[in-house]
This record gives sequence, structure tokens and C-alpha cells, in this order.
Amino acid sequence: MKKIFLLLIACYCTQAIGQHMLFIPDTLSGTTFNLTVHRDSVQFFPGVITQTFGVNTNKYLGPTLFMHKGDSVSLTVNNQIGDTTTMHWHGLHVAPKNDGGPFSMIMNGMSWNPQFVVRNNAATYWYHPHMMAKTAQQAIKGDAGMLIVRDDAEAALPLPRRYGLDDFPIVVQSVELDSVNQFMPKGMVDSIVLVNGTDSPYVSMPAQVVRLRLLNASGERTFDFGFTANKSFKLIANDDGLLPAPVNTTRIWLSPGERAEVLLDLTGMNGQTIYLMSYGSELPMGVQGGPTMPMPPGSPLMNSPLNGINFNILQINVGPQTTAPVISIPATLVPDTAYTASMANATRTINMTADSAMVMDGPFYFNHNLFDMMRIDYRIPLNNIEIWSITDSTMVAHPFHMHDVHFYILDRNGNAPDPTERGRKDVVLVKSMETVRFIAKFDDFGDTSTPYMYHCHILMHEDDGMMGQFIVTPYPEKVDDLTNPSSFTLYPNPVGDVVTIESTTLARNRDLSWKVYSIVGGEVAVSGQQEQQKIVLNTSKLAVGMYFVKISDGSSSYVQKFIKL
Ligand code: C2O
Ligand code: CU
Ligand code: CU
Repeated sequence: MKKIFLLLIACYCTQAIGQHMLFIPDTLSGTTFNLTVHRDSVQFFPGVITQTFGVNTNKYLGPTLFMHKGDSVSLTVNNQIGDTTTMHWHGLHVAPKNDGGPFSMIMNGMSWNPQFVVRNNAATYWYHPHMMAKTAQQAIKGDAGMLIVRDDAEAALPLPRRYGLDDFPIVVQSVELDSVNQFMPKGMVDSIVLVNGTDSPYVSMPAQVVRLRLLNASGERTFDFGFTANKSFKLIANDDGLLPAPVNTTRIWLSPGERAEVLLDLTGMNGQTIYLMSYGSELPMGVQGGPTMPMPPGSPLMNSPLNGINFNILQINVGPQTTAPVISIPATLVPDTAYTASMANATRTINMTADSAMVMDGPFYFNHNLFDMMRIDYRIPLNNIEIWSITDSTMVAHPFHMHDVHFYILDRNGNAPDPTERGRKDVVLVKSMETVRFIAKFDDFGDTSTPYMYHCHILMHEDDGMMGQFIVTPYPEKVDDLTNPSSFTLYPNPVGDVVTIESTTLARNRDLSWKVYSIVGGEVAVSGQQEQQKIVLNTSKLAVGMYFVKISDGSSSYVQKFIKL
């Protein structure tokens, strides 16, 4: 009896029963990328299989895309999920029409083909849908993947970069499954942590310097990443690029959407086991992942068993060195100069609010507004350098994410950010009762037809409307003549290929004229036809975006806004 027991222990000394080898997603590289998003299923746990979304041959999550800075790339996203979706390249600095926001819908069975030049620096990005009100359910079911950009500056550094050998994609998601093993996109009792879609994962890494590309792709949870016994590591890159020099640390917080590249020195540890962990006990209350807040009666259940505790995420079994191992860490990386506050020519202030101070599950607002596809919150002149000052007046922390730009954190409540928060970022966690200021330059893409988004990256908050939109205007606005109240009906709105405008106030039997303006007042040519007091415009050639139409009978004119989808 004792012997059998010992034998079992011996067999499973490194792998306990129920552990799974870490899945390393396949890769796509080059300049043409074909992604087919489809419905699939995975046997995560005994019993009922779990319905998932996968990309290409993957049953859950997608391949890792490798792009090179300066390349012209063409991506085709084919939607086979049985529902409308979009695909957003999180962190990529691309024109709004290529960004995959809520306006770039891909109907089921259709494809979308953005093409752009990769302008980003080498770093770890990711892709996921951005479908209005459905981002959580689509991303959490597995419609997401990592996107790695390489460039010449990174290539010149002696860093580990052999994918799956000494350079590892680590996509971490905490999820909740219901009693029949199906994803609960809005569940707040997440108890399962998947790494690259693997439950209870282990991986073997060589006894040398290895690179971990950490991505928090969770809907809600913030992780306080570290390793067993507070082993130190070097942070080399934040969201959007390498730091000027590695930062030595024992912890890195990542809220949903954030990435970090870290170097871990495993030299001399062949045969040992360590864990990537989350030190959740060190997170403050109010940050999802820290201790559960005492709840007022009637609140939804939010007491995940992972809250406020330290737990293992990934077992790392250290194995023999590879050939040509990286065994030292460079002292400097890529120079990068942050913008300073004195360079700013505008400041925008956003207050994160809720209906009352007690609200813990939303809806949450920006400046008391929910997202409205018809409202452009900010019109930003091209090349502006702006300070955005974000205050969280709610009980819970919110990861604030900007599309288009990369920013530098200036301060938190007036204090310089931690060294681990230096460098280019596109998500910043704003804690309850905290003000975070960051600075960004809105360069390269002035495009008035499609807005960019900014939002909370807690996916349920985003889906519930904690989102706003801005456009970057390539020329000064001139919409001041578009001020008359509207007194005609326009339908449908949003419009498709045609829009009908009817008026009872304009004079009968007069020739009506119309003009269509883009969001900043530039006139766009639109053909149409008048029938009595009705005008039917052909909008099939308009790009997706917001427009104004002005109709007049020679003496009075009226203006209305419409959106082209
Ligand atoms: Cu990762 Cu607007 O999102
Ligand atoms: Cu994004
Ligand atoms: Cu939020």
C-alpha cells in the first residue's frame, strides 16, 4: 500500500493529476494574415463540453501574429461565429477605419480586409472583437489572440526571441463557467484561470534567461504577477514598447488589456520548479482581484474565491539549457523620450462616475455619459499633444484604454508613477478616488469619418457603456453654419445605402436642395432625388461614420445628423 502510494508520488512529482501542458498557439507571420473566427467547443472539464470561439485551427483563442515594423500588411477576418462581430488590433496605431472598433462590423459569413503599414515599435499587442455590447461574450469565449511586433532596434538586442523555446506567450484569463460548463461573460465569481486556454498549466523552460510576454486578457480581474519566493525579474517592455533600460522588480500589476514583457533568469535552476503567481493578497480593496468588498444587501455576488489571495498561475519546470542560450540581460534597451507636461496644448478631464457611491457592478459613466454612437465626445486637432486627466469617483478601479495613441503616465494623485509604469502604454488602471494624468500625441491619422474609442477595459463595464469616442480632425472644424434645429424626419438612422428625408415644414412644390457634410464640415457629394417634400439620397458610397445633412427650400434650411453603417 505504502509502496504504491510512493510510486504514484514519484510519477507525479512534477505534474499533479489534472495538470495540462501549456498550449503554445501556432503563429502566422509575413504580410498577409487570414483569420477565420468560428464556433467551436473544448472539453475543459469533465462533463458537458464548453462552447467556444476559435480562430483558424484553434478551438479556443487564435494564432499569435508576428508583424514587422514598416511592413504593409493585409488582414482578412472572416466571420463564422453566427453573429455580427468586429476585430480590433489592440495597441496598433492605425487609421480609424482599420482599427476594428464598433463601427467596423463584420456580418456573419462576411469578411473584413483592413490594410495598413505597421508603425508600432516592437512589443506585445493583441486582437479581440469590439462589437457593441458584445465584446465580453465574444472575447471571453475565445475570440482573441496575441500580436507581436518586431523591429530592427529590438532585433539588435541580445534578448530571448525564440517563440515557445525561450520567448513565451502567456495569455492569462480568469473565467467563470456556469453549472453546465458554459462561459459566463458577465460573471464576477471567476474561479478558473486559463493560460493560453490551458487549465492548470505547466510548461518547461530552459535554465537560462527566458522572456515571458504577459497579457491580461481577462474580463475583469487584475493580477499582481510575481514568482515563487519573490524571485526578482526584469521588466523590459510595457504595453507599446521596450523601456530604455530593464527595471528590476518582484511584482508587476496587469489590469485587463495590459501587457508586460519580463525576463526571468533561470540560470542554474535545472530540475527546479517555480510558479508564476498572482499575489492578490497585496492588491487593495476596490481593485478586482483584491479582497472582496463588504456588500450592501441586494448586490450581485462578487466573492470570487480568487479575491485577495495569492495563487499559482503557471508551473514552470526548469529544464536543460538550449543551444546558444541567452545568459545575461542587457543593461540598456531602446532609448525613448516621454513627452513632458509643458509640451501639451490641451487638457481633457474625465470623471468616472456611477449612479451612487455604493455602485460596484455598474453602469459606470464617463462624465455622467453612457456611450452613444451618435455623440463624438472629443474632436482633437491632428498633432495635438494632450494631457488626459482621469479621476475615478467610483468604488472600484477601472483600466482606462485609449485607441490610436500611446501615452506616458505623468502622475498618480500628483506623484510620479512607479518605475514599472514607465514607457509607452495604452491602458492604465485608475484606482478608486485616484486621479491619473497621462500625455499623448495624436499624430498621423486625421480622419473625420470614423471615430476612435476610449473605454474601460473591464469588458462588462465597456459593454454597459463605459466608453466614449473621439475623432482626430485633419483640418479646422467649420460646422458653425449647421446650427438650425432639425424639423424633418430622416430614416432609417443609422443609414445603409439609401436614406429618406421628409419634411412638412418646408414649402411645398419648391425645389429642395441638400448638402451632406462629414463630421467636421467638409462637404461630401451625395446624389439624390426629390419627390414632393421627400428626398431620397443615395448613401451607398459614403464611408462608415457620422454626417450632417442640410436641406433647404431657398428660404429656410434645416440640419440633421445621421450615421452611416
Ligand atoms: Cu482592447 Cu478598445 O480595446
Ligand atoms: Cu484597443
Ligand atoms: Cu470599469
